[in-house]
Amino acid sequence: MNDQIDLNRLPRHIGVIMDGNGRWAKKRLLPRMAGHSAGANNFKTIARHCNELGIKYLTVYAFSTENWKRSKDEVDNLFNLFRDYLIDSRNFKDENMRLKVIGDIDMLPKDIVELIHEAEENSKDATGTVVNLAINYGGRDELVYAVKKIAQEYKNGDISIEDITEKAISDRIYTADQPDPDLIIRPSGEFRLSNFMIWQSAYSEFWFSNVLWPDFKPSDLDQAIIAYQQRDRRFGDAK
Ligand code: FPP
Repeated sequence: MNDQIDLNRLPRHIGVIMDGNGRWAKKRLLPRMAGHSAGANNFKTIARHCNELGIKYLTVYAFSTENWKRSKDEVDNLFNLFRDYLIDSRNFKDENMRLKVIGDIDMLPKDIVELIHEAEENSKDATGTVVNLAINYGGRDELVYAVKKIAQEYKNGDISIEDITEKAISDRIYTADQPDPDLIIRPSGEFRLSNFMIWQSAYSEFWFSNVLWPDFKPSDLDQAIIAYQQRDRRFGDAK
């Protein structure tokens, strides 16, 4: 463990945009899918590292609401990786990590939805890192979902206009009951959020790196945390 990390001031919630799998594969003259497989393996390594460090929540962007635009082959291959991981997670009891999927899962193949419910149920008592897998997730889609819920409650007379507050919205998005991400990491040299946790990231710290996701090591995560711990977070307050 990197002794420059102050374990008393860890980010409670880290978000990761796992970008650069395709370029990683291209550099090696491999099919894109090889990049996603390497990325999926690396996700497991980084999740374990977060758990060892004591990070309470990790959210990884695995499939966005926009990723349906990719070829059917690529989408099918990604879904196979999710299947494999969810099936494997039956053996992860000793890892003590809790799995949660965030996103519109009704659009996913039925067997994956069942595997998600099973994995969430099996890991619900774990006390280590809560791993949010964002699948068919979009920040705007999540806000539409929250707004529709509120509209329905208003129609039913269960909520008044005055009760529609920031907290009311936070309570109706996929990460209700979780702290907002303190730190969002995007590797692969891109500097954008791509519809990832747009509501939750209002005061997140960002850390970018040129490393492609499959090459992103636990030591890179440590560097991101060290940089985060040097930031002065004011949340709009004066110095
Ligand atoms: C973006 O990089 C990455 C994705 C759209 C998929 C991310 C998915 C994984 C890492 C697999 C996750 C698996 C599990 C089990 C959680 P890109 O491929 O678009 O990269 P590029 O910009 O270099 O082409």
